[in-house]
Amino acid sequence: MITPSPADSVLDLACRMPKAELHVHIEGTLEPELAFALARRNGLTLPYADEAALKAAYDFDSLQSFLDLYYACADVLRTADDFRDLMLAYLERAAADNVLHAEIFFDPQTHTARGIPFVTVLDGLAEGLRLGCQRWGISGRLILCFLRHLSEEEGFVTLAEAEPHLERIDGFGLDSSEKGHPPSKFARLFARCQELGKPVVAHAGEEGPPAYIGEALDVLGAARIDHGVRALEDLALVDRLVRDGIPLTVCPLSNIRLCVFPSMAEHTLGKLLAAGVKVMLNSDDPAYFGGYLNDNIRAVQAAFQFDAATWYQLARNSFEASFASPADQAGWIARLDAHFAAAGSLAN
Ligand code: ADE
Ligand code: ZN
Repeated sequence: MITPSPADSVLDLACRMPKAELHVHIEGTLEPELAFALARRNGLTLPYADEAALKAAYDFDSLQSFLDLYYACADVLRTADDFRDLMLAYLERAAADNVLHAEIFFDPQTHTARGIPFVTVLDGLAEGLRLGCQRWGISGRLILCFLRHLSEEEGFVTLAEAEPHLERIDGFGLDSSEKGHPPSKFARLFARCQELGKPVVAHAGEEGPPAYIGEALDVLGAARIDHGVRALEDLALVDRLVRDGIPLTVCPLSNIRLCVFPSMAEHTLGKLLAAGVKVMLNSDDPAYFGGYLNDNIRAVQAAFQFDAATWYQLARNSFEASFASPADQAGWIARLDAHFAAAGSLAN
């Protein structure tokens, strides 16, 4: 009989712990199998012979090299049913990883630019969320992301399309090519988002400089920073993140696959945690980067061998950094406490 080593049991504890995912792009959950199925359903031809050929193209050397493929694959998403099925496929995998709550990005401009109506995208995703909650008890929210390689004026057009549907949109974000597109480019757009009373997040400090993190906070009023892993290059900024409790939604496998760090051992996650920054793990674009949330946990644990207390903190941060109500957060944290107590490794 094989007795699990303590290291295996900490990994098992982390994989089975309840958690939230706060940084996942729904378009980045499009697995090759579903991409080909949707292409067939919509009478389209992908520029790859088969799933293996598509997977072979997942060899990125920068954020832009990934985004080029990510936008091309999104072309198979045409109908509300396609968006619903994409959402359901993600929620099923997330629930299997013990994700209780997910705050999910969508990029409407990727679709409206191809003639897909905004409401088709939103109807499909919202229906997927409704069915996912019914089937797996997972709660989900939608965060509309503006593409920063486009203009602020184009962002305003998208916001106008979104405004009649605000009851189904839980926040606003900023994503796509970071270098050369500072948050300040979107100051007026996000001022309007703030007026609408929705929380704001922004990708910053992924490939771009730490100054973009400061801008996202000061100019856009971001409540969370997506990635933010370059913050450590500016220790005054780290102090600010700690003092103000600004969460960073860290995506380890993404950062390795996009060459932000040469290896997991060189990732800044451990140092950010040690400094007291409110970080948690996320999968970003799991279909493209080698896996979902528990795959990120396995990769991080192989590199850092965190103890149970650290995994508890990461999961607790994920709930506390969410935009869910204090009552929902408290309920999930009680389940987290029970999980660690049952394992006899309570860490708080
Ligand atoms: N859109 C999808 N994934 C992204 C990432 N990692 N950074 C910026 N924009 C994105
Ligand atoms: Zn992202």
